[in-house]
Amino acid sequence: MFGSLLKCLVLALLISVHRLLADSLVLPRFEEVDEPSDSASTLAFVFDVTGSMYDDLKQVIEGASRILEKTLSRRTRPIKNFVLVPFHDPIGPVSITTDPKKFQQDLQELFVQGGGDCPEMSIGAIKKALEVSLPGSFIYVFTDARAKDFRLKRDVLRLVQLRQSQVVFVLTGDCGDRSQPGYRAYEEIAATSSGQIFHLDKQQVNEVLKWVEETVQAMKVHLLSSNHDSAQENKWEVPFDPSLREVTVSLSGPAPQIELRVVGAEQGLKELLNIPNSARVINLKFPRPGFWKLKVSCSGRHTLRVTGVSSLDFRAGFSTLPVSEFNHTRERPVKHVMLKCTGLKPPGYLSQVELMSASGRSLRTIPVSLPSDLGQQGLWTLPEFRTPPQSFFIKATGNDESGFRFQRLSSVSYTNIIPPPAVRMPNVVRGFYMQPATIGCSVQSDIPYRLRFTRSGITLGEEKHFNSAVASWEIAHASGEDEGTYECVAQSSAGQGRALTQLTIQPPPVLRPAVNVTSSVGGVAVLSCQVDGHMRHNLTWHRAGRAVHARAGRAKLLADSSLQISGVRPQDAGAYRCEATNAHGRSEITVWLLVPAEAPSVEVRPQTQTFSRGDEIRFVCSASGSPPPQVSWSHGNVALANQPRFSVNRAGVLTIRGALPEDAGDYTCQATNEAGSITQSASLTYATQQVVLVSVGSDATLACQATGVPPPLVRWFKELEVGSAPFVEQDVHSGTLQIRGVQEVDAGQYNCVASSSAGTSTGTVSLE
Ligand SMILES: *[C@@H]1O[C@H](CO)[C@@H](O)[C@H](O)[C@H]1NC(C)=O
Ligand SMILES: *[C@@H]1O[C@H](CO)[C@@H](O)[C@H](O)[C@H]1NC(C)=O
Ligand SMILES: *[C@@H]1O[C@H](CO)[C@@H](O)[C@H](O)[C@H]1NC(C)=O
Repeated sequence: MFGSLLKCLVLALLISVHRLLADSLVLPRFEEVDEPSDSASTLAFVFDVTGSMYDDLKQVIEGASRILEKTLSRRTRPIKNFVLVPFHDPIGPVSITTDPKKFQQDLQELFVQGGGDCPEMSIGAIKKALEVSLPGSFIYVFTDARAKDFRLKRDVLRLVQLRQSQVVFVLTGDCGDRSQPGYRAYEEIAATSSGQIFHLDKQQVNEVLKWVEETVQAMKVHLLSSNHDSAQENKWEVPFDPSLREVTVSLSGPAPQIELRVVGAEQGLKELLNIPNSARVINLKFPRPGFWKLKVSCSGRHTLRVTGVSSLDFRAGFSTLPVSEFNHTRERPVKHVMLKCTGLKPPGYLSQVELMSASGRSLRTIPVSLPSDLGQQGLWTLPEFRTPPQSFFIKATGNDESGFRFQRLSSVSYTNIIPPPAVRMPNVVRGFYMQPATIGCSVQSDIPYRLRFTRSGITLGEEKHFNSAVASWEIAHASGEDEGTYECVAQSSAGQGRALTQLTIQPPPVLRPAVNVTSSVGGVAVLSCQVDGHMRHNLTWHRAGRAVHARAGRAKLLADSSLQISGVRPQDAGAYRCEATNAHGRSEITVWLLVPAEAPSVEVRPQTQTFSRGDEIRFVCSASGSPPPQVSWSHGNVALANQPRFSVNRAGVLTIRGALPEDAGDYTCQATNEAGSITQSASLTYATQQVVLVSVGSDATLACQATGVPPPLVRWFKELEVGSAPFVEQDVHSGTLQIRGVQEVDAGQYNCVASSSAGTSTGTVSLE
């Protein structure tokens, strides 16, 4: 009779196992092996390396390899990386690795160090581990001492809430007094994080590690959590839903007793840990769905955790205003709660949420109504709620899609501690030379705060009140003087947050000093402009405010950015500006091209000239030198500029129009440049009248000399043109006029006019 009942039960179990396996196969979530999902977390060991921990360390090294083997063999790998935080005084060095072999090696390389006081820096080490671990991580603390840095407890509790990580303590000692704040801090951290404290003898560390092996699981869910200060027996009824692939009940305290049954019978329980004076852990694979009865007792202070492995779970997010997306919520409990359920499909639903005390009592019950999409997206919002003064867990209950009751507990407990403003600044802010620089400071605060920027202890500008998350300090034109450390300080009624940053100004390109270049006329000059280092830049040459186009012609840009000028002319001399720019600014140098001066030389042509009244006279002055000389004319001591009858053109030609007798004299051309000055003179003679004396009856010859190219033709006038007559003979080429048998009437003034295509000139001869 009894035997057949047992068979029936076994059969029922087998059936349910099969059904669950089948279910698990159709659930896509289970197939997501190695997917980078929320379940990828960190396994962190925080290890006390004081001398007394030698035995513990040996066992942890052995145990760790088994834990790693087991974790790596799981289908869904729960662990993405490994963290080891050794502590003594100081903490560290911290190692983080994704390679399990490296983690084992790091453990093996740990060596315990001499004595030390009993309390240790354990809380700081836990804080470090929480900071470097992924969310939802497993943190195991091995020590035989209570904490001396328990003032960091608040930071750790806040991090636990933020990261939703679990901290488990494996204690092989406690410095003898469990009422000390350094020990109570462990209890609080364990309670907040759904972790536990296990008190062991040194030789029992190995036992606990076997249990750790089992509990490092992906898709770990929490069902129940309670802490009790005294000896008690407690009974709980917990619904196990079909998605639970296993359930673990872990009880830490003296003389632990656990009874877990459904329909009156204990089934398939496996003991993972049994240390009679301190801990008991049992595990059940594929529990039959339904309400299970759990009875636990201890003979003193104790903690109970019921966890499972399931794809059905939830996360809670909070916000001050209602939101429609889960990623707009935060971990700190405020008015509005949104639950994000995974593995719950319609018609499955969430029916109520309870806020649970640390001892497992219900503080408040909040009914949940069906969202408009019937929970298709897994987002369930709760009506506005008041957070209780003490810390609380969130318990969600509902029915799964096949109508089975389920229950889940948040993985950490929540406390409405208003944190001081969290202030963040980048480590380094880069500004650009002469450009606006912005020193940003992001502040997270749930309540209004005042914010100020300081530099070397001096407040910049005015302190401001803020509600928003980002503030900045602006510098209009950043330069080297603005470099240095800036601090952003946010103060709210909950405390102060500060952050530091370093402002560095990116320099414009740095140019080597200018070297002037000297080149003689006709030479090749290379003006160099070199940027130090390998800073990317653009480079241009300028002359007299204009860019030098160095592509064609005598100027050429060489590969090293030098400007080459060939066939140097005196007028190339002068300043050349080389300008290099990059995103950070501009630098320039000025290189001078010096073309040494050459003293001028000058030549005046013709050297002598005679003229008559009214003539037009020209003198040509050719000057050369480097730079080209300035030419000026003078007559005697009088400079010839801007006078009516005198003009000097650009080629240095002096023209005298309508010459007068007083124009006769020396004309001097002066050529001047920076190398000197030189003069040359030419003389201009007024041709006075020739007088030819002859007696009546004799012959007379009047001569008028005219030269020129082309040779001029000479004609004679005595008031009228002297015509041709038997007694008169003119030679237009030689310019002579012969008069035979001179009469009285022939006396008088004769003018000769020499003319050619180049001009006319006249002369006068008197015959008496
Ligand atoms: C929040 O999540 C939605 C999708 O669920 C995404 O489109 C959006 O970009 C996310 N917003 C932020 C700020 O991450
Ligand atoms: C280059 O020549 C200019 C003009 O003569 C002068 O002012 C400058 O100081 C010189 N620079 C160097 C580096 O010799
Ligand atoms: C150089 O000039 C070009 C064209 O103006 C610009 O696109 C580039 O960013 C400049 N490079 C640097 C280093 O300033």
